[in-house]
Amino acid sequence: EKGAFKHYMLKEIYEQPAVMRSVLDGRISGDHLLEQAFGNEAAALFDRTRQVQIVACGTSYHAGVVAKYWIESLVGIPCMVEVASEFRYRPVVLPQGTLLITLSQSGETADTLAALRDVRERVLGTLAICNVPGSSLVRESDIALMTNAGPEIGVASTKAFTSQLVALMLTTLALGRRHGILPGTEAQVIAALRQLPELLKQLLALDPEIEQMSAAFAEKQHALFLGRGALFPIALEGALKLKEISYIHAEAYPAGELKHGPLALVDKDMPVVTVAPSNDMLDKLKANLQEVRARGGELFVFAGQDQSIRSEPGISVIRLPAMPVLLEPIAYTLPLQLLSYHVAVLKGTDVDQPRNLAKSVTVE
Ligand code: F6R
Repeated sequence: EKGAFKHYMLKEIYEQPAVMRSVLDGRISGDHLLEQAFGNEAAALFDRTRQVQIVACGTSYHAGVVAKYWIESLVGIPCMVEVASEFRYRPVVLPQGTLLITLSQSGETADTLAALRDVRERVLGTLAICNVPGSSLVRESDIALMTNAGPEIGVASTKAFTSQLVALMLTTLALGRRHGILPGTEAQVIAALRQLPELLKQLLALDPEIEQMSAAFAEKQHALFLGRGALFPIALEGALKLKEISYIHAEAYPAGELKHGPLALVDKDMPVVTVAPSNDMLDKLKANLQEVRARGGELFVFAGQDQSIRSEPGISVIRLPAMPVLLEPIAYTLPLQLLSYHVAVLKGTDVDQPRNLAKSVTVE
């Protein structure tokens, strides 16, 4: 039931503070992870994991790209990420000690399932991070962690994505324990995760401001999304949301790639959406934004507390609260979901059931 919401997508965006609670429920206690949440066989599997291969499609793939940043920085083991439709059709090298992680809202995506079936005999073990209990992916994997986001009806994935990110952060901690992550660091991560429900509530309060911003996109043909570091995959996800529900052509780039090609596209008709939290990549990102402004591109920036980024002619800024760096990818997703939602509503598209798309892609 949509209740007071006009669309399932909006309802599901607004459910995210509560979903953050259900994905953490029973998985953390005090200042530490409850590893048993992954199942009895998990500990032995994590003990022997030397690297991670993530396979997924679409939005779930974007969650995997975020996890690569987390696993390589916090655990210090290699993490590869690939879309399932490529992974399954090429001879892949899987070094000893590879943990295969599949990510899927539905657990029935044909390519992801085929990738799992193709390599499960050649890897150390398989972990499914999934939203549907009893789905094929869950049944056919060695261990599973459910994302507990509840049924997702809107074709555009929202709460499933943010809950996958939390599940991946928990997985990062489990692996980190085997690779010298300090108990203090684990405690900090858990404390940060506990802030999520409240933080996401604060972000939902930005909705009216975001709705206002959306008017600038309704007549546009194209949009560019920029981010750096673990926010680059969030730019990818923002662009995917905009294209699938508003039918506006959108592309995402890691901002450092601008001058290697996409800068040629930038003029006054090209809105450039940027996720710009106040982290150690901000100075680099600001230089990239200068490059856009110098070519007349109009900037729409989701910024942190750095006051040197502020609204002025050609730059519209929506300011997000201060937050732990690790939460940035989760938190900055919400305003991008709301932006694409409002643009789609303005354009009058079928938000919950975009043309040509199916909720669960069970055929290739
Ligand atoms: C985008 C979207 C799709 C799915 C993709 C994988 O909003 O929903 O890109 O993420 O089809 O689906 P699952 O996660 O069910 O494997």
